[in-house]
Amino acid sequence: MLVLGIESSCDETAAAVVRDGHEVLSSVISSQIKLHSAYGGVIPELAAREHLKNIQPVVTTALRESGFDMKALDGVAITSHPGLIPALLVGNAYAKGLAAASGKPIIGINHFQGHLYGAFLEQPELLDNPENYPILGVVVSGGHTALVLLPIDGKARILGTTLDDAAGEALDKAAKILNLGYPGGPIIDRLAREGDEKRYDFPRGLVGGGGKPVPPEHKFDFSFSGVKTALLYQVRERTLSEQELRDVVASYQAAVMGVLVSKATAAAQETRARLICLCGGVACNSYLRRKFQEACEETGRRLILTPPKYCTDNAAMIGGLGYHYIRNGLTDGLDMPVGARLPASLGVFPFARNAFRE
Ligand code: KG4
Ligand code: ZN
Repeated sequence: MLVLGIESSCDETAAAVVRDGHEVLSSVISSQIKLHSAYGGVIPELAAREHLKNIQPVVTTALRESGFDMKALDGVAITSHPGLIPALLVGNAYAKGLAAASGKPIIGINHFQGHLYGAFLEQPELLDNPENYPILGVVVSGGHTALVLLPIDGKARILGTTLDDAAGEALDKAAKILNLGYPGGPIIDRLAREGDEKRYDFPRGLVGGGGKPVPPEHKFDFSFSGVKTALLYQVRERTLSEQELRDVVASYQAAVMGVLVSKATAAAQETRARLICLCGGVACNSYLRRKFQEACEETGRRLILTPPKYCTDNAAMIGGLGYHYIRNGLTDGLDMPVGARLPASLGVFPFARNAFRE
């Protein structure tokens, strides 16, 4: 089965053709980073205009590179939520037009679920092995920071999420404060390698530090607004030397990533997760990957580090995931809405081994 995936939820216009959910025949990404870097963040209206310009060539290229045309495809999968509404609308209108004109089914995909699926895109055997369940997904991107538990029946449950900024947002905002450029994550990743993470003591949110116990209902939640404010106070009205800057960045990164590792490890322990899966744009971070590796070696838990090309936004994860819906006869109508937020209930993730099996 061949599915065309389309992604336009933020600042990447992407299209991919995926065979049987796992074989990526083409994956084309047009990034708008240069456009938004002048503003230090994504401007939704500008993103929408850029998607409008790029979507046709991106989809055409993805189809050409796959060697198939619309006639040969079995369906279209499009990110319908969550994301920036103006950006989503462009991709969804285009995908609907394509589906209607070709008479193919369409399925709206949850982008958050797509990020988790990215980890398994080229490794279907991991999903097939009952011993890997339950899986703990650590989804860390510019829009999300969440721990999600995926049991073998696919009935996914969010264990914790961020109460304010996402981890990627915390990095991007720090880079803005420090005038480092956009997006901040990769720049901080690079600079921190030459810094001393122990030089500055940045606060870690919701870990019970400073005599403030964590309310039980927030034990797996995150908060990154405190660390960002601490950074602002640390550097305001100061000129940092090159080395100080690297040390600040390394210490800040360690504070953000440290909480991700410790909470994910605790959640895996409590839920007896067999496999931890790190995904989303921030999962590209070399420090975070190393820290997760160390933690999982210590606790003897299996770890899946998503390949960097499937960490950041792409359409292969959307097309691959779409296959699992279409195969189960789950498709949407042309009146399908777009949504800004993650729904309260995630429903059944169709790629889990026993999803939809009684
Ligand atoms: O998944 P993604 O492409 O888009 C969203 O769905 O948000 O993630 C983008 C985020 C940005 O915040 C970016 O700074 C961060 O991923 N990022 C990184 C790295 N590469 C991208 N963060 C830390 N280290 C990196 N190497
Ligand atoms: Zn994303």
